[in-house]
Amino acid sequence: MSRTRDAWTGQIEIRGLTKRFGDLTAVDRLDFSVQPGQVTGFLGPNGSGKTTTLRMLLGLIRPTAGTATIDGRRYRDIPNPLTVVGSALEATNFHPGRSGRDHLRVLAAVAGVSDGRVDELLELVGIPAAARQRAGGYSMGMRQRLGLAAALIGDPQILILDEPANGLDPEGIRWLRSFLRHLASEGRTVLISSHMLSEVEQTVDEVVIITGGRRVAQGTVTELRGEPTAFVRSSDPARLSAALTAARLRVEPAPGGLIVTAERTDTVGDIALSAGVAIYELRQEQTHLEDLFFNLTESNGNLDATDDEATGHGGGPPDLPPPTGAPAIPAGAPASGAEELR
Ligand SMILES: Nc1ncnc2c1ncn2[C@@H]1O[C@H](COP(=O)(O)OP(=O)(O)OP(=O)(O)O)[C@@H](O)[C@H]1O
Ligand SMILES: [Mg+2]
Repeated sequence: MSRTRDAWTGQIEIRGLTKRFGDLTAVDRLDFSVQPGQVTGFLGPNGSGKTTTLRMLLGLIRPTAGTATIDGRRYRDIPNPLTVVGSALEATNFHPGRSGRDHLRVLAAVAGVSDGRVDELLELVGIPAAARQRAGGYSMGMRQRLGLAAALIGDPQILILDEPANGLDPEGIRWLRSFLRHLASEGRTVLISSHMLSEVEQTVDEVVIITGGRRVAQGTVTELRGEPTAFVRSSDPARLSAALTAARLRVEPAPGGLIVTAERTDTVGDIALSAGVAIYELRQEQTHLEDLFFNLTESNGNLDATDDEATGHGGGPPDLPPPTGAPAIPAGAPASGAEELR
């Protein structure tokens, strides 16, 4: 670990962060913290304000109100930031005529690191062969990998990646997962955004979910998943319910069947067999986290259609349980006022 990295703990704090574009409130009094040593997923449907939040965190746009800090400092106040914070926002901004290698060399010069690091990184992200090709001809997945290499050029303590799984094939997603988990295990702070829970669910330890620019949930994936449940439709729900309860499982009636709190559907099937009840249908239910995310994306289906819809979360976030055991952040924490960037 480099000396620069030792000097930074990598704690990210978002407090009362707000961004308005004219009448549109893209980010609305957002509060959350991101800890080092784990991968944090910043999730929300299209247009929910993820990129806008990350752009404020990286000092690319000025917040209307609130603060986004890294170890208590704004990005622009960090000396030689490439060696502290690596970032990749939407993998498109490479000079199309420049090779991947040359692109990284330019960055290496800015970050003050040796050219040797460039080849090491190209190897690390799995595109050594493409290094001499013009980046304009890269596939989406190759651009993502090059973006990741660029983010890592200064061996940063903090990694901020906007939709890094976008455009990756399943193998690429698996590779990204182990790569990011490895970086977090080295004690780095890894913050990744995604509009698809399924892409990152197995990668992240902690999630922050936003919609309409507001936080609606934060917690570990395990906490937000909730207890596993199964749906069962049978020949005799009353009898099955009694048998399941006798086996100390929690049972609730559901339309057309029962919802059972059980780790495995096998348990439910075995109990039904012993009770002499025929099973017509038995399946694991979606987890709370999947339900939660599905509801959010459903209700925000056409975000880009009109400004009204983009801001149209007037009914407020859906009815959610408070994130249990999550790092406590008061939902209504006051914004700390407009911040002067210049
Ligand atoms: N520069 C801008 N000017 C005006 N409106 C903007 C600007 N940037 C973003 N917006 C709007 O702010 C809202 C949030 O956009 P943002 O790009 O942050 O969403 P996102 O969560 O990153 O979405 P996606 O999943 O599609 O990447 C959208 O309604 C978007 O149209
Ligand atoms: Mg975005």
